[in-house]
Amino acid sequence: RITSITGRILYNSRGSKTIEVDVISDEKYLGRVCAPSGASVGKHEAQSFPQDKPEKSIDILQKNKKKFIGLDSSDLKTIHETLRDIDQTPNYSKIGGSLAFALTIAATESAARALETPMFQILSKDSTFRYPLPLGNILGGGAHAGPGTPDIQEILVCATGSKNIQDAIETNLSIHKEVGKILAKRDPSFTNGRGDEGGWAPKLKNDEALEISAKACEQLGFTLGKEVSLGVDFASSTQWNEKKKKYVYNRAGFENTPEEQIEFASSIIKKYKLVYAEDAVHEEAFNDMSVLTKRFPRVLITGDDLLVTNTQILKKAIKIKACNGAILKVNQAGSLYDALEFAKEANKNNVRLITSHRSGESIDSHISHIGLATKSKMLKVGIIGGERIAKLNELVRLSEYDLIRGMAEI
Ligand code: PGA
Ligand code: ZN
Repeated sequence: RITSITGRILYNSRGSKTIEVDVISDEKYLGRVCAPSGASVGKHEAQSFPQDKPEKSIDILQKNKKKFIGLDSSDLKTIHETLRDIDQTPNYSKIGGSLAFALTIAATESAARALETPMFQILSKDSTFRYPLPLGNILGGGAHAGPGTPDIQEILVCATGSKNIQDAIETNLSIHKEVGKILAKRDPSFTNGRGDEGGWAPKLKNDEALEISAKACEQLGFTLGKEVSLGVDFASSTQWNEKKKKYVYNRAGFENTPEEQIEFASSIIKKYKLVYAEDAVHEEAFNDMSVLTKRFPRVLITGDDLLVTNTQILKKAIKIKACNGAILKVNQAGSLYDALEFAKEANKNNVRLITSHRSGESIDSHISHIGLATKSKMLKVGIIGGERIAKLNELVRLSEYDLIRGMAEI
């Protein structure tokens, strides 16, 4: 039973204010969660804070916390419904999605502590689990890095041939390191600058960035599409100009019509044998996503801003086969309950899940458990920096449990 709840203002990895919530069960079992936040935020995501003020979420928690005292901390549905009584807006604009996020996950963690069970097992009734493949950010730009960096937000790597979680993590890290070496050699003025998620952020055009990423994999003896594969988060909504009806690549200096964007993404997918392509078109271009999904059935054509972890939007996407992969970011949905409903719908329809961090993070590692419990194929957690490594380290710790058998198959 929940015996106390405390909220406070803290700071995320970008130095912005956020909230943390403590939930204590039976006076001693602590669940503690600090809310992350995005930089390339989807139009239809839950609103992080009422009027963008974290303090308002804390005030609301203060006024309403009595309603949660005495509830069973493992009863996610009742906790969710209690939140929904307080905020009936579709996007949590009254209490803030961050509060829904932190409170529901903290309650679940507190229940896990009380039951002496790892959190992923509280969230899933399955008896065996597979590790999601870590998807690491090796190089990037866009909304996550400064001027002169590639327009493409993230070039990603995934050790698709790895046998165990340590191997998968080490392979990603070695490729990131190798990319750094190539960049330093190529440009002696390269400062080792990195974007918000730990990937390198050099002054480069998109195609040069992709070439270097592929070269790093090959130099280490990996065959692209076999032991390791590349992925791209195009985050195309950041390029989309609604007035012009074009994708504007400011840094590279060109523009794409919607048709040209499909060909642009297709040529990158083919040339670099991508296993993963996220938001290759803008967040409302469902039909264009369908074209790509049909064209590349073996590639994870994934929606992030397109779906915003929203079950209703996912249903619409499923109807027209807009994607075969879905990013799961709990704070896009709001509460953990909302996110698990989304996961259920995705799994039922063979839309493969990729549980993901946000670019502004904390050192929490609950998403590693959520990735396992939702049968996610990949875990997208950046690459280095304490707040990124924390999620990977948690996966390694969990390898001490016998319940997790091998790596997910895409
Ligand atoms: P965000 O970026 O957390 O800044 O939204 C991550 C992504 O677009 O996948
Ligand atoms: Zn994205």
